[in-house]
Parts: sequence; C-alpha cells; structure tokens
Amino acid sequence: MKTYLITGCAGFIGSNLVDFLLNKKCKIIGLDNLSTGNKFFLKKALKNKNFKFIKIDLFKNNIEKYFKNVDRVYHLAANADVRFGLNHRKKDINQNIIVTYKVLESIKKNKVKKIIFSSTGSVYGETKQIPTSEIANFPIQTSLYGASKVSAEAIISAYCEAYNIKSYIFRFVSILGERYTHGHVFDFVKKLKTNKNFLKVLGDGNQKKSYLHVSDCLKAIDKAITNCNQKINIINLGTQEYLKVKDSVSIISKCLKLKPKVIYLGGKRGWIGDNSFIYLDTKKIRSIGWKPKFNITESIKITTNYLMKNSWLLDRKN
Ligand SMILES: NC(=O)c1ccc[n+]([C@@H]2O[C@H](COP(=O)([O-])OP(=O)(O)OC[C@H]3O[C@@H](n4cnc5c(N)ncnc54)[C@H](O)[C@@H]3O)[C@@H](O)[C@H]2O)c1
Repeated sequence: MKTYLITGCAGFIGSNLVDFLLNKKCKIIGLDNLSTGNKFFLKKALKNKNFKFIKIDLFKNNIEKYFKNVDRVYHLAANADVRFGLNHRKKDINQNIIVTYKVLESIKKNKVKKIIFSSTGSVYGETKQIPTSEIANFPIQTSLYGASKVSAEAIISAYCEAYNIKSYIFRFVSILGERYTHGHVFDFVKKLKTNKNFLKVLGDGNQKKSYLHVSDCLKAIDKAITNCNQKINIINLGTQEYLKVKDSVSIISKCLKLKPKVIYLGGKRGWIGDNSFIYLDTKKIRSIGWKPKFNITESIKITTNYLMKNSWLLDRKN
C-alpha cells in the first residue's frame, strides 16, 4: 500500500483530499497546525486506521522525519488569504515560500519521488491573455499571495531539475464546495446571515471570476498524476465559464430566498491585488479526458447550502 503525505490536511481542500485518497486505499500522513483548518473536517478520516494526523506547525518545527518512506507529497499548507496579504506581509513569505523550501528539503533528504503543489490562477496577475493558458506571460504580480506562489513554483522546479523529483503544479481558479471556509461566497453568506436586507460588495460587481467544485478539482489532480509524465507538469484547473460577482450575489440571494439591497462600493477591483478577470484556459487538463461535473451556478448553490447547514463555520474566529 502506498503512503502519501498531505500538508494542510485539515483545510478545505486538504480534508477533502484526505477522504478522496483514503477511498482509494492508501496510507495517509496528514500534517496541519489547525491555524485555518479544523479537526472537525477530519472526523471520518480519524476513524480510518490508514490515516495518521500530526498536529504540527511546518514553519516552526523540524519536519524531515515525517517524510520517511513516503511515496508522494501533496503540499497544500499555505496562507491562502489573498485579500489581507498586505496586513501581514511576512506571513506569505514564511508560510508559502519558506515552508515550501522546508518541504522540498524533507523530500530531497528522504528521496521522495513526487510533489503535488496547490498553486493558483492568481500567479497570472493582470494578464492580457484571457482565457489564460499555462504558457501566458505573467511578469507582474499584483498580490503578495500570487508572488509567494510564483516563488514556490520556481523553487519546486529547481529542486525537480536537480534531484530527480517529479512535480505536479496545479493553478486553480477559486474552489467551492463542502468545507469551504474562505472566499466571496463565505463573506456574502456570513453578511446576509447577520443582516438579510442589506449587502455591501467590494468593487463594482463586474469583476469576472471562474470557480471549480472541490470534487472536480481532486479528480483532475488524480487524472493528471496518472496521465502526465513530464518532470515538471504545470496545469490550470477551472471550468470553461466565468461569472460576474453581481451574478454570484443573485445566485446566493435566491438560494437563501432573500432580496437584499445590494451596495457596490465601486472600483474595478475589490481590493489591491484582486484580479478583475480570472478565466483560465483548461485545454491541457481536458485533453487527457477530464471534465468537471458541476458548473459554477451549481457549485455556488452547493456551497451556500453547505454553509447554511454548518453555520457555526460562519461564526468562527479564524
Ligand atoms: N481555496 C481556493 O480557492 C484555492 C485556490 C487556489 C489555490 N489554493 C491553494 O490550495 C491550498 C489549500 O487551500 P484551502 O482553501 O484548503 O485553504 P485552507 O486555509 O483551508 O487550508 C490550508 C491548511 O494549511 C494549514 N496550515 C497553514 N499554515 C500551516 C503551517 N505553518 N503548518 C501546518 N499547517 C498549516 C491550515 O491550518 C489549513 O488547514 C493552499 O495552498 C491554497 O493557496 C486554494
């Protein structure tokens, strides 16, 4: 039986990945400091004898020993908060760049053969190429989060060139679905739970974004690892559609059976570093036979309903 290590195993995507891989009959070692993740998401996995959870901070501690006899590393742990990056600048550097370096050193020392990395469509910054393909030019970064992911991707590639490691770098659009805990659907549902008559939205509402359901994201990752065999595999993940933020507001309001007065605060971007148009070219992943099950509207509805059923998540402090 293969052993896979997942960093960020208690997070939104990480915990879904734990369940997905346990269903495929492998052993999982999950590392997480529970800073934004939640042990509740691992409730089912913790009952499985093939899952071992280790609560540890990857930045502060020596982590090499956990990578012994591991076949593959899924490195998902990160500071995934794009919007408030400028409020705590060191966080993106430490959690996204230095932690990636520590993970790579542990991989090298333990001769692990594969790393799977969760990057982001934010690396393309304000690209002129829409839909944006993996080989688009993106010299200018607009957020510290995007910049830290570009750096992490670059360091991963250099380790792969030098030490016979294979990498799968996935650039996701925003992910939605069960256990979702951050992003615009979360913010809107949370605000509407407090005040059902009124919703303030950052930007003019015309920002165009693409989304993907977490289950489709995990199936794509799995398919790519099986079918792509370059030393460094860089793959966009997203749906073949996008939506304006104001359309998303309508879907969420309808789902909650509300008719709030919506105030748009104006500007093409919601905040510094927000990309006003994210739409990725996904020909590469579709060329190996993957296609998403859920469209964006379905994903937003599923996420809204999940949050209402688990409204304690909306009241969490972190
Ligand atoms: N959710 C999205 O829309 C999206 C889009 C693109 C890329 N990504 C990337 O996917 C990955 C997972 O994102 P997510 O949405 O599940 O975020 P998340 O915040 O839910 O998960 C991150 C997990 O990492 C853990 N973590 C953070 N720092 C740690 C540290 N120093 N030591 C140990 N554990 C630590 C957190 O506790 C959390 O459980 C991230 O790398 C993120 O940048 C997410």
